[in-house]
Amino acid sequence: MPRGKVTLLIGPNGSGKTTLINVISGVLSPDGGSIIFEGEDITRLSPHERFKRGIVRSFQIPRLFQNLSVMENTIVGRDGNPGESVVRGLFKSLWVEFEKKAFSDTFGKLEFTGLKRLSERKPGELSGGQMKLLELSRTLMPLNPKLVLIDEPIAGVNPALAHEILASIKKVSAELNVTFLIVEHRLDIAVEYADYAYAMHLGRVIAAGEPRKVLEDPKVIESYLGV
Ligand SMILES: Nc1ncnc2c1ncn2[C@@H]1O[C@H](COP(=O)(O)OP(=O)(O)OP(=O)(O)O)[C@@H](O)[C@H]1O
Ligand SMILES: [Mg+2]
Repeated sequence: MPRGKVTLLIGPNGSGKTTLINVISGVLSPDGGSIIFEGEDITRLSPHERFKRGIVRSFQIPRLFQNLSVMENTIVGRDGNPGESVVRGLFKSLWVEFEKKAFSDTFGKLEFTGLKRLSERKPGELSGGQMKLLELSRTLMPLNPKLVLIDEPIAGVNPALAHEILASIKKVSAELNVTFLIVEHRLDIAVEYADYAYAMHLGRVIAAGEPRKVLEDPKVIESYLGV
C-alpha cells in the first residue's frame, strides 16, 4: 500500500478481504507469505505489538463494550496511557494531563463522525450505521497511527455522511501521512476518495492500480457477476 494514501480493497462477498485485514492486523496467522510493514517482517508479531507500531483496525461487525457509553467506547482507542508504565503511572499530574487531552480529542472525533450528541448513549441504543461510526471514531484515537485498516466504514451510513467521512479520511491521510486500507462495497462513493485499489477474488488479488481502472477491469466485473 502506498504510504500516506488511501487504498481501496474490493471484491465480491467471500473473496477474502476481511481475512486479509485479519492477517495484516495479526488476528489470523497466514499459511504462507509474510507481512512487511515499513521494511520489517512483522508476520510473527502479536496484534498488540502491531498496534504499538501504529497498525490500527476496525471490525466489519462492530465490537463494542455494551456497558460503556459511546464516549467511553471511543476513548479506549487512545494509547500511551501513563498506567502502561509503572514509573509514569505514579505521577497524578501525568494522568490528569493525559485524560484531559484524551477527553477533548474524543469529542473531536465524535463530532467528526456525527456521534457527539449521542456520546452518553450505550451501543445497544444505536443503529447499525451509528455502530459503524463508533468503531470508526475509535480507530482515529491512537496518538500516532501509521496504518489504519477499516472494514466497511460506511456500511449502513447515509450517503451525505458517507461522503463526509471518506473525505475526512482522505484529508487525515494527506495531512498526517497516515496510510489507510479501506474495504468497501459501496464503490460508487468510495472510488472518489481512493488513490489506489486492489480487487480480490477467491482469495487472490486479481487487479491493482488506479481505482477507476480496477473497477472497469473485465476480470473484476466478471468476478462480481459470479462467472
Ligand atoms: N476462520 C475461518 N475459517 C474458515 N474459513 C473462513 C474463516 N473466516 C473466513 N472464512 C472463509 O474465507 C472466505 C473469505 O471470507 P472473508 O470474510 O475474508 O470475505 P470478505 O471478502 O470479507 O467478504 P464480505 O464482503 O462478505 O465481507 C469465505 O469463504 C469464508 O467463509
Ligand atoms: Mg468482509
